[in-house]
Amino acid sequence: MIGRLNHVAIVAPDLEAGAAMYRDVLGAEVSDPVDLPEHGVTTVFVELPNTKIELLHPLGADSPIAKFLEKNPAGGVHHVCYETDDILAARDKLKADGMRVLGDGEPKIGAHGKPVLFLHPKDFLGTLVELEQV
Ligand code: CO
Repeated sequence: MIGRLNHVAIVAPDLEAGAAMYRDVLGAEVSDPVDLPEHGVTTVFVELPNTKIELLHPLGADSPIAKFLEKNPAGGVHHVCYETDDILAARDKLKADGMRVLGDGEPKIGAHGKPVLFLHPKDFLGTLVELEQV
């Protein structure tokens, strides 16, 4: 049901410093910061040969990652994103297997302009999982 690892999202307390570390210390290709107001985050995309890292920083007052940063002031892994061919079929199978889909269970358009769903961390080894239809 799941395919490739699309990205790992990491919350950064200082986005510029995090981007500089990936670029200058780890030698990765790093984008300029991109504001995504509809998602309440500013993102830096780190391109790796086989996947992406997304550095996230809260944007605006109601950012969904503000609380995460409060609990993890040094930053941390926020979610992993797996690709799927058919997000509605994936959702229905997951629900039939007793897994919890966050929100109203309807896919939303994610940061890449594609339908996404988030799955409850308690059902997935303590890890927030994003599914993205590709
Ligand atoms: Co994501």
